[in-house]
Amino acid sequence: MLELGVGGGHNLSHLTADFECTAVDLSPDMLALSQGLNPGVEHHVGDMRSIRLGKTFDAVLIHDAASYLLTEQDLQETFQTAVNHLRPGGVFTVAPDWVEETFPDGWVYTWDRQQGDMEVNIEEVMVDPDPDDTQVESTYTYTINKGGKITVEVDTHVTGIFPINTWTRLMEEAGFSVELRPLSPNEGGYGSWLIIGVLEELI
Ligand SMILES: C[S@@+](CC[C@H](N)C(=O)[O-])C[C@H]1O[C@@H](n2cnc3c(N)ncnc32)[C@H](O)[C@@H]1O
Repeated sequence: MLELGVGGGHNLSHLTADFECTAVDLSPDMLALSQGLNPGVEHHVGDMRSIRLGKTFDAVLIHDAASYLLTEQDLQETFQTAVNHLRPGGVFTVAPDWVEETFPDGWVYTWDRQQGDMEVNIEEVMVDPDPDDTQVESTYTYTINKGGKITVEVDTHVTGIFPINTWTRLMEEAGFSVELRPLSPNEGGYGSWLIIGVLEELI
């Protein structure tokens, strides 16, 4: 199995007992975290829109990294990467955080994490500043209390948002038979649809 946009490799760590896995990410720092968590996995630095590993897999997975695809062209290029790395009949699974129909504009979510003498409170605010384009913004405010010394860090992520029909249409155009399965949201509400494509066999 190939995971594109593996990040820190948390999702992958639940799959390595059952699958022989290869992982790709744009960020060497994120790959280093995944390597620590998934030592038996082959890791490659690369862009999911353009990487070519020169081999095929039974399955290609993109989890929440799919959210960083900002335009229809990004989706088309990434679907070509999946086609290029799948055997005929292979399975492509994508799980974007949100699709247009489920995006909660103005949504605020907070959570805490604690380790040793450090406590971090995280607030995420999601907005769609221009409903006519395919991008939304998530602003994270981290309030960090380390042994009583408090600092605040703010980080804004721009991510893509597309109607579910755009995902299915572009995957079909790339050569997949597409099936949608509802995906139960996590405690933060993330998760809407699992989009599954089976690469059509050449006759
Ligand atoms: C939210 S993290 C993935 C976390 C992962 N699902 C886990 O369970 O640990 C998203 C990752 O997507 C990667 N990414 C974003 N755009 C990418 C691209 N075009 N090609 C490859 N990786 C990309 C980022 O570098 C980041 O590590």
